[in-house]
Amino acid sequence: MTYQVILPAAGQGKRMGAGKNKLLLSLNEIPILIHTLRVFEEDSLCEGMILVIHPQDEPEFKRLLKTYQINKEIRLVPGGRERQYSILNALKTVRSDGIILVHDAARPFIKTEQIHRLAETAERAGAAIVGVPAKDTMKKVQDGVVAETVERSSLWAVQTPQAFRMPLLLQAYEQAEKDGYLGTDDSSLVERLGHPVAIVEGDYDNIKITTPEDLFFAEAILKKRQREFC
Ligand code: CTP
Ligand code: MG
Repeated sequence: MTYQVILPAAGQGKRMGAGKNKLLLSLNEIPILIHTLRVFEEDSLCEGMILVIHPQDEPEFKRLLKTYQINKEIRLVPGGRERQYSILNALKTVRSDGIILVHDAARPFIKTEQIHRLAETAERAGAAIVGVPAKDTMKKVQDGVVAETVERSSLWAVQTPQAFRMPLLLQAYEQAEKDGYLGTDDSSLVERLGHPVAIVEGDYDNIKITTPEDLFFAEAILKKRQREFC
C-alpha cells in the first residue's frame, strides 16, 4: 500500500502573530515546514506530496525545498481563502484512485508508524483519522454559563493526518462545495455523506503549532525525541 499526501501550507499564521507564515519559523534552526516535509520525504510508502501554498510564499518555499534537498515528487498548488478551499484546489489535481492523506504542514511531529496505521485503516474502511481521547473535563458553555457537562469517555480530540480512498474524499469535497458547507476538518465532509470514519489512536505530542506558546511545547517535544534516539 502506498499513498499520496496533501499538505495544506497556505495559511497566514494570524494567531502566531509572527508577521509571516508560521511555517517559516524555525525549530532547532530548521523551518517547521521542512520538519513536516522530511517525515514524508523519508517515508517509502509516500508516492508524492502536494504542497498547497499562498502565492506570496512561493519564492521562499521553493528556496527552502532546494536548500533542504526535498527530492521526492512534490507539486505546488495555490491555496484558497479557507483551508477547505486549499484542499479542494489540491484534490482537483490528483489523478489517482488510491489512498490520499491530508496533513497540516503545521503538525511536524507526526510519526511514520502512525501514518502507516492510518493509511492501512483507510484502505480497509475508506476513511480514517488520527485522534486522542480528551483529557480535560468538557463542558458546553452558553452566554458565559455552563449549560452541560459532556460525558468525556466518548470525546476525542482529532488531529491530522486524515486518510481516505480518493474517490470518497473527492465526492465529499464536491458535495460540500455544492451545498456551501464549510467544515473544520476533512472527515466532517465525509461524515456528511453518511460514510463511517474509523479513528486510530495517535499521540498527544502531534500538536498543531498555532500560537506562540506552542513553539515552547514544540522545543520540548524535539528535546524528548532527541533523548529517545540517543
Ligand atoms: N491552511 C491553508 N489554507 C488556508 C488556511 C490554512 O492551507 N486558507 C493551512 C495552514 O497553512 C496550516 C493548516 O492549514 O498548515 C492548518 O491551519 P491553521 O493552523 O489554522 O494555520 P493558519 O491558518 O496559518 O493560522 P491562523 O488560523 O492562525 O491564521
Ligand atoms: Mg487557520
